[in-house]
Amino acid sequence: MGGHKKQRDGFTSKLGVVAAAAGSAIGLGNIYRFPCELGENGGAAFLLVYLGIVLLLGVPVMLSELVIGRRSQRNAVGAFKKLAPKSIWPFVGYMGVLCGFLIFAFYSTVAGWTLEYIVKAVTNSFQGKDLAAIEQDFSDFHNNGWRNVIWQGVFIFLTGFVVFRGVQNGIEKYSKVLMPMLLLILIILGVRSMLLPGAKEGLLFLFHPDFSKITGEVLISALGQVFFSLSVGMGALITYGSYIKKDDNLVTTSLSVTLSDTLVAVLAGIVIFPAAFSFGIQPSSGMGLVFNTLPMIFNQMTGGYFFCIIFFVLLAIAALTSTISLLEVAVAYLSEELHLKRQTATVLACIATMLLGTYSSLSLKQGSPFYIAGMSCFDLLDFVTSKVLLPLGGLFIVIFVGWKLGKTKFFDEITNEGTIKASSKKVLLFIIRFVAPLAIALIFVSGFIK
Ligand code: PFF
Repeated sequence: MGGHKKQRDGFTSKLGVVAAAAGSAIGLGNIYRFPCELGENGGAAFLLVYLGIVLLLGVPVMLSELVIGRRSQRNAVGAFKKLAPKSIWPFVGYMGVLCGFLIFAFYSTVAGWTLEYIVKAVTNSFQGKDLAAIEQDFSDFHNNGWRNVIWQGVFIFLTGFVVFRGVQNGIEKYSKVLMPMLLLILIILGVRSMLLPGAKEGLLFLFHPDFSKITGEVLISALGQVFFSLSVGMGALITYGSYIKKDDNLVTTSLSVTLSDTLVAVLAGIVIFPAAFSFGIQPSSGMGLVFNTLPMIFNQMTGGYFFCIIFFVLLAIAALTSTISLLEVAVAYLSEELHLKRQTATVLACIATMLLGTYSSLSLKQGSPFYIAGMSCFDLLDFVTSKVLLPLGGLFIVIFVGWKLGKTKFFDEITNEGTIKASSKKVLLFIIRFVAPLAIALIFVSGFIK
């Protein structure tokens, strides 16, 4: 390793870095998965735990990943090989590559739905329908397994297309303009949702916590959701970190990305729950929650037809900037460590994802045989990644930065070799060394004790 110097791709501007990392973070995790998890795990109590974990664990893990990436200038596996040669640490990177692949396989199922819903929006197929009809449409779509698979394939292809062309031409350009647009439309929808009759119940559900609802299961669900939403715990931000220039400020980058990601998630909650309560949709109704509530909101809005199209297009793009980062983890690994051509690596990774992804999509059909251990393949992939691999990955990453990389290199990296101030550096190190590993380990264990 090491000897050869090949020109590495990289991000060109500071805004580009934040935009690309925020593009990775903001996606279906915020708008689809967050409301589902919150609805199934006690509402406001979950939100409270979620916000606590974002601050205490999300920021330090994200910072640690960026530090590992920029310091090493390598992919998720190569980074550990370079920073801790001849050790078992690269194992954390391999786990990350695997986790990214597994997430991409089921994430692309839901990403495919956004394309189906763009078509539904354009063809005005929600108009005048009541809740029962909209719910029926959603379940019909699910039971048409191959239709899911085709949309998923289209989505994987789109992701591959962007990654194929490399980081600078692809990732940065798409993220910069579209994320702020998504934020704007969420605000408009949030206002509309809160003005619906009976919306107050939904706001109470979201913001009035019942502390007795906090259980080990809620804690691990919140931890998994935080890591999933911030794209941490699997090396995506190690990979992106390796494209960041030496004079970018990693602490402020972590803070801005975390803040925007969390804002979008909370806004999604403000859009979904008041409306769901108003229409009589159960907060714990899982998959249908978001995909049924949204068309109902658009049906009640002036200009709903256009808002609906714009919204699903933006949602698809938000998903795309996330799948790009998922695929990039595998592609950077395959091309740098196994010396495959970037293009070959992209094609191979996409084919592999499509194979597993097909299982995931077909497993959602009623009576599907693709059940493993009582769970659909889709649910199993979601469970293993968010509740097992991401927490473990996050745990190893903070331990690595806190104890193996060590204080001096960590400070060097966050102060850009002493050229900028990082007044919180001691607190951050303390959290990364002691608080984060302990907290993650405790939550992980508590989640599995019934
Ligand atoms: N953070 C993305 C979302 O919330 O939609 C999903 C994701 C992307 C998870 C990239 C992990 C990752 F590495």
